[in-house]
Amino acid sequence: MTSLAIILLGPPGAGKGTQAKRLGREFDFVHISTGDILRAEVQKGTALGKQAKEIMEAGELVPDSLVAEIVGGRLRSGNGKRGFLLDGFPRNLVQAEYLEGAAGDLPVFAIHIQVEEEQLFKRLTGRRHCPNCGRIYNVYFSPPEREGICNACGSALMQRKDDQPEVIRERLRVYREQTEPLVGFYASRDAYFEVDGNEGVEAVFEELSARIAQIDQSLERASR
Ligand code: AP5
Repeated sequence: MTSLAIILLGPPGAGKGTQAKRLGREFDFVHISTGDILRAEVQKGTALGKQAKEIMEAGELVPDSLVAEIVGGRLRSGNGKRGFLLDGFPRNLVQAEYLEGAAGDLPVFAIHIQVEEEQLFKRLTGRRHCPNCGRIYNVYFSPPEREGICNACGSALMQRKDDQPEVIRERLRVYREQTEPLVGFYASRDAYFEVDGNEGVEAVFEELSARIAQIDQSLERASR
């Protein structure tokens, strides 16, 4: 099977992280989540984390050079695998151009997970995570068995600081202004697919899997 890079494009709360974790396992992709990597740096208190913390809490974008360095390193160290699933990168045209160069001969495709704004708000304000094992819950759609407690490890659940309503509004504004133009960027390269992300987790997973199979088939046809 041809090696490739797939970008999961979509607004905050579209379900990129939820789907990327499972797709990564099922399709043997290396999952690169810039948000997860940056949050880990913040938690460890590294120089990068210190630079990123306030920016992330305000819902703005971390400087392109910092994020590009992270992604470039992961792409270089993932050789020989089936490919990469990018979640949260690229987020603007500068990052998309960077990826074109860093990916080299690797074909790059974008799948856009589209979700209504009202649904995004509910998903983000309802999101909780376990700081110990990383499991993600949602108080509206996938609550834990005991309120505020992780089913898997019993730790107290937490809410991300950028999941406050005023920060969510800013993140959505930044998305519309900076990230949405990537739709045109990938559509003009014939490397763009859409899925309806308003459905439940399982239905969205099925749709994404079907798009990935379609991409695989088109690459195989092209290589014959
Ligand atoms: P990042 O972590 O990438 O945040 P985001 O793009 O805003 O996306 P989220 O993680 O909020 O949402 P998601 O789409 O992954 O949804 P999830 O699956 O969790 O980035 C955070 C910050 O880091 C940025 O604001 C920026 O500061 C910085 N950053 C990161 N990358 C950067 C870059 N490249 N350049 C510059 N700065 C960068 O789901 C959300 C909730 O909904 C969960 O509770 C989940 O259980 C639930 N859910 C998911 N799918 C469904 C469904 N189908 N039905 C019902 N509930 C669902």
